[in-house]
Amino acid sequence: MPGLENKVAIVTGGTRGIGKAIAQALLEDGAQVMVASRHEVDVKGSVDLLKKKAGARINGIACDVRDYGQVQRLIEFTVKQFGGVDILVNNAAVGHFASVADISPEQWCQVIDTNLTAVFYCCHETIPHLKKRGGGYIINISSLAGKNPFKGGSAYNASKFGLNGFSEAIMQDLRYDNIRVSYVMPGSVNTRFGGHEEEVSNSWKLAPEDVARVVIDLLHHDPRCLPSCVEMRPSKPPKK
Ligand SMILES: NC(=O)c1ccc[n+]([C@@H]2O[C@H](COP(=O)([O-])OP(=O)(O)OC[C@H]3O[C@@H](n4cnc5c(N)ncnc54)[C@H](OP(=O)(O)O)[C@@H]3O)[C@@H](O)[C@H]2O)c1
Repeated sequence: MPGLENKVAIVTGGTRGIGKAIAQALLEDGAQVMVASRHEVDVKGSVDLLKKKAGARINGIACDVRDYGQVQRLIEFTVKQFGGVDILVNNAAVGHFASVADISPEQWCQVIDTNLTAVFYCCHETIPHLKKRGGGYIINISSLAGKNPFKGGSAYNASKFGLNGFSEAIMQDLRYDNIRVSYVMPGSVNTRFGGHEEEVSNSWKLAPEDVARVVIDLLHHDPRCLPSCVEMRPSKPPKK
């Protein structure tokens, strides 16, 4: 199977959890990878670690994806460093979980701005570069929360339901430009998301590497085939 040599990928939220595992898997498959998250120190830490194996194929930049100007800088920096963009993985997200009466307007906006509006920003800025390369791939990391509402999930559910609809619409906008769009809906993954702790006792959950593997598999499908939505869940969650 040919790898992703000469392909350039951007992974938002690529400094920990699922995004970091995706960045690592892309590097192992030969791609050049740009990671972005809000904190310079985390970006530098991740890049330094990944550089040990990947050398100059990894780079990073601090970017708050909620800020359109910073997204423009991320894409410009990537094109300057690596010569273009072929793959965009929209992975950065936050979660605030509380009853709708208790969630603050600031928390609501943080969730919707990060998990939905920022994905539009990243796609909007990247698409012209994908077109310049003759095509590409956009993979949005959604969640089973994008189809299964739950108590305390109003903001997060709304953001991921919105992301699923957005992904399906742009898939139709872009398919004849050879730009494929998929979204992945994992169930519980063992990360620090939403203030959880990564723990061995959580070994029933999906591992970040499981999601990364799905991303790599998507990128290796024949161009004729578009698995536009992938659901994945732990095989054996604790019995209720
Ligand atoms: N963990 C789960 O159970 C689970 C299940 C289903 C789906 N997901 C989805 O999987 C994706 C990754 O989640 P995860 O579990 O890996 O979470 P995580 O460990 O909390 O990582 C989130 C990443 O996003 C970055 N980020 C957050 N806000 C950002 C912003 N405004 N601009 C740029 N980067 C930002 C974080 O870095 P900074 O905070 O330093 O910016 C971090 O690198 C998310 O889309 C999440 O919704 C997770």
